[in-house]
Amino acid sequence: MPYIKALMSAPSIHVRSFGCQMNKLDTALVTSALKEAGYDFTDSVKQADVVLINTCSVREHAEQRVLSHLGHLKHIKKSRPNLIVGVIGCMAQRLGDKLLEHEAVNLVCGPAEIPQIEQLITETLKEKKKSLAVTEKIRQKAPEQQSQELEQFESAYGIEDKSIPGQAYVRVMRGCNNFCSYCVVPYVRGPEVSRPPDAIIEQIKKLADLGVKQVTLLGQTVNSYKYKQGAKTWSLADLLHAASDIEGIEWLRFVTSYPFKEFFDDIMQVMASSPKVCEYLHMPAQSGSDKILRAMNRNYSADSYLELLERARAIVPGITIAGDFIVGFPGETDEDFQATVDLVKKARYKNAFIFKYSPRPGTTADNRLQDTVDIEVKQKRNLELLTVQEKISDELSRDFLGKQVKVLVEGLSKKSRVNLDKDENPQLIGRTSGDWIVVFNGPESLAGTFAAVKIEGISPLTLFGRLA
Ligand code: 5AD
Ligand code: SF4
Repeated sequence: MPYIKALMSAPSIHVRSFGCQMNKLDTALVTSALKEAGYDFTDSVKQADVVLINTCSVREHAEQRVLSHLGHLKHIKKSRPNLIVGVIGCMAQRLGDKLLEHEAVNLVCGPAEIPQIEQLITETLKEKKKSLAVTEKIRQKAPEQQSQELEQFESAYGIEDKSIPGQAYVRVMRGCNNFCSYCVVPYVRGPEVSRPPDAIIEQIKKLADLGVKQVTLLGQTVNSYKYKQGAKTWSLADLLHAASDIEGIEWLRFVTSYPFKEFFDDIMQVMASSPKVCEYLHMPAQSGSDKILRAMNRNYSADSYLELLERARAIVPGITIAGDFIVGFPGETDEDFQATVDLVKKARYKNAFIFKYSPRPGTTADNRLQDTVDIEVKQKRNLELLTVQEKISDELSRDFLGKQVKVLVEGLSKKSRVNLDKDENPQLIGRTSGDWIVVFNGPESLAGTFAAVKIEGISPLTLFGRLA
């Protein structure tokens, strides 16, 4: 009998996840594997025997938050020396044994090593020793056995994220080969590997059988998905097409897209022709200055990026577009920044995520370029770009006033901001197929189902309405 199942009472695990959707998915996979192995889960650190932290390295700020959390755990461990603390995710891979030296940390496990997580935790609990599992040569193609283990882990446990009912993520590719000069991802998640289409489709079918209605396909550059099978090379468009035939799945999304020309029209065409593929494209531009784009090693110009958006809008007229930007990249002048402002004005995003450049050790930008833009200037540009975008978001949201939208209900909203109905029903949150957030009152039992909502109020990023 496995060690955990033979114990009188199962150890309790508390998981905390930082970072992107990839991390959320990894957390779900790990949680599911550990539940299967007999572990209990708790929402409280106080009741936990093991605290697992899934970490992000994309900006320094994300790492600082983890370090401050570890500082807090170190304090707790003074009175509870048996508490096990494990760090998984990108920071685990990036810092490896340095992280293991932290007083609070007992185990460190990189993203490509998560199939070992159960064994690592069990050994750490039994033997009270420190354990390290990181990938030594992260940029090399993984040995066949390791790839198979990851693939097995992924498909066996890809069904456990109850945080939003009715929805699930499915990874279609791991890693990244793009090497944008500021980005740490290729060094912590390794080379790009597309998963076999059969495994992906099988997994989506399983999710549909479990009642999942919306699947989001995940990849760092999801639109470069490519898998050779016999004479056929599968693209993301083929995957979306095949997934559209799965009964029970009603909405399909994919994130994040890179402005690649290859496959672009095919993907847009599936979006236009399949009612299941949500009319939503998240495609970061990062900057509107060609000089900065070159320094970022992004392989397109501002004009060619905007051309892609035009093509997207020509093929899918109602498409919603979202973007990411980095302000204050080394060498970014006022003029470069102005080019970014111009691009944002032309792109007319639903929303844009705007980040201040954060030097990441090991990246080419950090190796070769000085972080020249003052933090005050980064701050100012960040705010200015947000203001420009907010005005656009506000204008776009006005189109919804008085209209009825279909939303997939996520559950209770965090804050009760507007109470249009003064009835007993709590405030709920849902999303349209174009990813607009909709807040309305209704019974909590609607979570995980589709609802029709009439829009009666707006704010730049949120639509407010009542159940139709
Ligand atoms: N500094 C600031 N932002 C970054 N991003 C990635 N790396 C960095 C960095 N070093 C942003 C990009 C990316 C998003 C996920 O995070 O905009 O699209
Ligand atoms: Fe990072 Fe660029 Fe890869 Fe995105 S495409 S993960 S920004 S290297």
